Amino acid sequence: MANRSLCVYLHGRYWWTVLLPICVASGLYLFVLHHYQSLSYRDPTSFFFDHSRAYERHYSTRRITESQNFLSASSDAPTPRRLPWEDPILCVGIVTVRRREDQYVGLTLASLLDGLNQSERNNIYINLFFADTDPLQHPAFAEKWAETLPDRLLTYSRDHPEFTKLQAWERDGYYQNKSVNDYKHLMNACYETGAKYIAMIEDDTLAVKGWLGPTLQALNVVEQRTSGHEWIYLRLFYTESLLGWNSEEWPQYLFWSFVVWASSTAAMIAARKWLKAPNLLASSIVWTTMWPIPSGVHVMNKYGCCSQGLIFPHFIIRRVLDLVNSAEDLFVDMMLENIADSEGLSRFAVVPSILQHIGATSSKGYGFDFSATSLWNFRFEEYSPSGI
Ligand SMILES: *[C@@H]1O[C@H](CO)[C@@H](O)[C@H](O)[C@H]1NC(C)=O
Ligand SMILES: *[C@@H]1O[C@H](CO)[C@@H](O)[C@H](O)[C@H]1NC(C)=O
Repeated sequence: MANRSLCVYLHGRYWWTVLLPICVASGLYLFVLHHYQSLSYRDPTSFFFDHSRAYERHYSTRRITESQNFLSASSDAPTPRRLPWEDPILCVGIVTVRRREDQYVGLTLASLLDGLNQSERNNIYINLFFADTDPLQHPAFAEKWAETLPDRLLTYSRDHPEFTKLQAWERDGYYQNKSVNDYKHLMNACYETGAKYIAMIEDDTLAVKGWLGPTLQALNVVEQRTSGHEWIYLRLFYTESLLGWNSEEWPQYLFWSFVVWASSTAAMIAARKWLKAPNLLASSIVWTTMWPIPSGVHVMNKYGCCSQGLIFPHFIIRRVLDLVNSAEDLFVDMMLENIADSEGLSRFAVVPSILQHIGATSSKGYGFDFSATSLWNFRFEEYSPSGI
């Protein structure tokens, strides 16, 4: 009965009022689908995540080449020119230990320096710390750039009160104990530069060209938002895979989703006068649930993973140094999370990520390599060839 009446209807004068809207609606739907597929295939929280394409290195391949070129011409790089009473704005601490295979620390350093002009270079102070108790074991230690590019090259002095303990940790594979100690040693060295902010960057990361400007802007945003409240760090790298960002920022998310949904629905209701296409409503709902995390500074108190790049305000360093304790059975990143939780300190992140993780072999030793390759920021690969 229903079929017959539909056929009768279709054979009637107004068949096109049904078919045309269906064609238009399907076309639009496919367009929207395609659009979101191309937008979200790198977003692991999205329905459209495409594993085979998501890990393609687009921007980072380019950035690695640029960094290699920078290293081979490193003698032309601007050297910092600061007056004795001028404190740098940002101290960048990079700790490196010899890895089993490739060493990435040169690329990390070069990507941070390539593209900076003289005044930007003056604003940052780079501490490069070779943390092997015998730094000559580290293949990069003898490279010329290791001496010329950083403001200061640090190693453990044989007079260090715990030198023999450090050697024992190294020899016996107590990686975790040693890495906590290395982190504190470097953080303290950066603290002593008097810089307003301290960036702790791991030796297997890659910075986007032009990173400093947006980073300082993001720090300003954090200062404005926290006026009067303490905060612990601004995150320069996060992995989207672990990001339940909706659950942290759901009020805004819900609000904007609603605004978009309501306006598109209203538009469609208006359009329905001449387009009988209720499935447009369905596409508007699909649409508003696919939003990737917007650019800018976000609170990321949970789910922001890993310590590839964190910037701490100077005022929090003494407390962090007191609380990060090598007697606790944890890696530094987990300790920092615990400190932030117990002290009620906010954590922030810049979106998109300023750093990418490039290491495939973990400096944490065997058994950590799987997690090393999956530490990845998908959005980083979408930067334009010229950087930020
Ligand atoms: C260096 O670059 C920054 C950021 O692009 C710019 O604001 C500044 O004016 C530049 N300084 C010089 C001396 O070129
Ligand atoms: C390494 O640290 C753990 C706690 O994280 C501690 O129990 C252990 O004794 C330390 N090992 C050495 C050799 O110091």
